[in-house]
Amino acid sequence: MEEKQIIEQIERLKRHKNAVILAHNYERPEVVDIADVVGGSTTLTKAAAETSADMIIVCGVDFMAETVAVLNPDKKVIMPDRGAVCPMAQQIFEKDLQEAKEKYPDAEVLLYMNTHAKTKTLADCICTSGNALKIAELMDGGSPILFGPDRGLAYYVSNRTTKEIITIPEYGYCPVHHQIAIEDLKRAKEEHPGVKVVGHPECTPEVQDQMDYIGSTSGIVEYCRDAEEAEFLVAAEVGLMHVLKKEAPDKTFYPVSNTTVCTLMKMPTLLKIREALEREKQRVVVPEEIAIEARRPIERMLEYL
Ligand code: 13P
Ligand code: SF4
Repeated sequence: MEEKQIIEQIERLKRHKNAVILAHNYERPEVVDIADVVGGSTTLTKAAAETSADMIIVCGVDFMAETVAVLNPDKKVIMPDRGAVCPMAQQIFEKDLQEAKEKYPDAEVLLYMNTHAKTKTLADCICTSGNALKIAELMDGGSPILFGPDRGLAYYVSNRTTKEIITIPEYGYCPVHHQIAIEDLKRAKEEHPGVKVVGHPECTPEVQDQMDYIGSTSGIVEYCRDAEEAEFLVAAEVGLMHVLKKEAPDKTFYPVSNTTVCTLMKMPTLLKIREALEREKQRVVVPEEIAIEARRPIERMLEYL
């Protein structure tokens, strides 16, 4: 079947079922192009908190869909492919966090959005890569801040705040952004001398140290769109290139590494989206006793924005 026909069917089903499609910036280009809301974790969480749709199709990974479900217990939240499981969210164990909380009884717990709903129940507040620094600064509770699981984002925040940040676990990371090696960046800079480097804080500290701008996926898009420069080297997942070109069509973007692909983010396809709308399988339901506790730190994040 032709892509055009599948898109028409998706549109028809969406209208019929009062559904909305949320897509992360790293999704496939054709998915980005049909989504109602495209953005990073902050944008998608805000959209999920505000939508009046009855059904929400989440084109992203598991922790994103869980967050949408936590905020929308009465709506149908569906992933086109539940196999999209982010490895970073699996790197933090509740037991380690509980132990850290016992060791630092005055600490506040700030957890990255990239955690499971159950883990979020242990947080005082949730953050995304776009607001982690701002929220760490605004949190007025105890010290230190226990932060997890991404050590790249922890490095970014620690370098810009006077607050003490303790990372739980010590070695949490994104295997995709960590593929961007310092050698890749050096080579790209040699090939494109003088071009500004933008990138994501999930990258390694040594790669971050070479960036002119570090931000969330949406932050990178906004920065490049509004900057005076016309060319950028991008240290992020390659899916972002499509969104960058859409948002700033007159500018040129070079990926630092062409092989930086999150295969999990690419799991939703147009066919799977149509199936999700039609058959309503692969629903994401968070048990209410977990959702009630996970909602609190997510809503606190939304209040800080
Ligand atoms: P953003 O919130 O910056 O979109 O990042 C989410 C993510 O998982 C990137 O790997
Ligand atoms: Fe998870 Fe990294 Fe993929 Fe984001 S890019 S979903 S953190 S594996």
